[in-house]
Amino acid sequence: CGIIGIASNKPVSSTIINSLRKLEYRGYDSAGIATLSNGIVSEAKSEGRVDILEKNLAVKNMSGPIGIGHVRWATHGIPNTINAHPHSSESVSVVHNGIIENSTLLKKYLINKGHVFKSQTDTEVIVHLITEYLKELNLKEAIIKTLKQLHGSFALGIIFKDQPNLIVGARRGSPLAVGYGPNENYLGSDSYALKSMTNKISYLNDGEFCIIKKDQVEFFDEEGLKVNKKVLELSSKEQDYDKGDFKHFMAKEIEEQPTTLKNCINEYVDKINNDINIYNFPWNIKEISSVTLIGCGTAYHSCLMAKYWFEENTTLEVTIDIASEFRYRKNRFKDDNLYIFVSQSGETADTYAALDLCNKNNMKTCSVVNVIESSIARDSNFVLPIHCGQEIGVASTKAFMGQMLVLYILVLKLGILRKDLDKDLYLNKIKDLKLLPKLVEQTLLTESKIQTVSSSFTDAKGSMFLGRGFSYPIALEGALKLKELAYVHAEGYPAGEMKHGPLALIEDGMPVVVLAPRDNYYKKTISNMQEVIARGAKVLLITNKSKDEVFSENIWETVLVESANDDLLPFLLTVPLQKLAYYSALKKGYDIDKPRNLAKSVTVE
Ligand code: G6P
Repeated sequence: CGIIGIASNKPVSSTIINSLRKLEYRGYDSAGIATLSNGIVSEAKSEGRVDILEKNLAVKNMSGPIGIGHVRWATHGIPNTINAHPHSSESVSVVHNGIIENSTLLKKYLINKGHVFKSQTDTEVIVHLITEYLKELNLKEAIIKTLKQLHGSFALGIIFKDQPNLIVGARRGSPLAVGYGPNENYLGSDSYALKSMTNKISYLNDGEFCIIKKDQVEFFDEEGLKVNKKVLELSSKEQDYDKGDFKHFMAKEIEEQPTTLKNCINEYVDKINNDINIYNFPWNIKEISSVTLIGCGTAYHSCLMAKYWFEENTTLEVTIDIASEFRYRKNRFKDDNLYIFVSQSGETADTYAALDLCNKNNMKTCSVVNVIESSIARDSNFVLPIHCGQEIGVASTKAFMGQMLVLYILVLKLGILRKDLDKDLYLNKIKDLKLLPKLVEQTLLTESKIQTVSSSFTDAKGSMFLGRGFSYPIALEGALKLKELAYVHAEGYPAGEMKHGPLALIEDGMPVVVLAPRDNYYKKTISNMQEVIARGAKVLLITNKSKDEVFSENIWETVLVESANDDLLPFLLTVPLQKLAYYSALKKGYDIDKPRNLAKSVTVE
């Protein structure tokens, strides 16, 4: 979910709506806004997108100079208008990002006190708690007492019917920023949402709250003691990013990949000396003997990919983890381990929590992010940006490529610094890497073939994506893309493991993608492919161009990507799989840039 608040001397509803659009990457199940004017709170909520909320007549009539807004990704309660935020009582309105874990208990207590609940959300308990405490306490005391009662995570924006000039913001777990403007001040889930209004920002720390007025912002700790804040100036200006002539952002983002990869290579590769530059790396290389990579969703797949590269090119020990699994295990923290957090948005709650855990244990933390002002980037010891520009499509494409690229660059650099990689091999790998953007560009030409075969996936009950070695993480990513976009059940599986169970799923005509580039695994994967063909699968073989023909029978279709050294083949295999998911969804007429039930970044755990 995403929240916004503005305290101004002019009507704020249309600025809130514009900022909510920027927060839609956090959720788009429903949206809502409340403004305050002369002691009257006006509220508008809609199921679905911000565009729908904007058309709501109530929004058009809002003229209040104080307001809060919200986009939701449902946790407690279905995504409908009643459960949309803000939630209000006769005296306060609240927008919330996070989860209140003790809401059931608190609700019971409040119902006993006579409070009547309208929604199924956990958020509504916050509304009634404040209302209850305001009966006897002043505003600050009521806020402090309420926050102490809440278990779980929250970023809050609160307005009060009897306080015509102010908004209260509070955070624990979920990030929250304050922005400073001329005769107005802002509250927002991230600096990106505030950027179109100001480049002067402060961030709340865990446990803090703030009182925002049009000409003043005050910060307090959890006991209500005043806190002084630094005002940071954001460097980059806001960039406009549109679809251009493309039907969807996703289509554009896939096509942009040769350029984004090239930009990223230019940032890290010294072309004259054929070397990799990673400036200001804060540790001595001898201090690191193992690596842990952590991420969610697509970012996790790039972690898995990196494991194969690390093992191939370095002697470092490598473990990988899904962030939501890492954060609650009994981890053996090691001083000589480098913890790498991969996240496009830099705001994913699980990944952030895993980073936070490592920071609290004084571990070496590094992040691979796209959004350099994000929470994960700010709170890690070292940041490696992926330089791929804004990504709008919820299903990640160019950011996945960027994550893999930066991780691969890091692998090569650590490999040479540790003397695990031979100098000539290192130089050759850099030479090959420089050709990657061109190879991706040529591989994009597989489009028409993919477009033709995609209808078999659209109509299928289910499908499988198989690969071995370097191709296995890509099989997982290909399956995830098809699930996310075309809502077709798709399973990514190690090709050699099929015989231990999933082979039972294969039936006549089931579409199966087999990734079998001509690397060390080629012959083995081709044998596994025959095992599924023998059981009726319709196989789409994706391999790379070669002078040798593929000698294998009964393959339904073959797609040839460009050839490259083994390390780089995963990038090329990814391209047709992105297109496959795109065209399968397009045929079904689904919302490609905003698939159902998903968010670009999930900011609750
Ligand atoms: C969501 C998105 C995925 C993304 C994942 C991690 O689930 O739908 O596409 O891979 O979050 O996001 P992050 O911003 O941390 O890379």
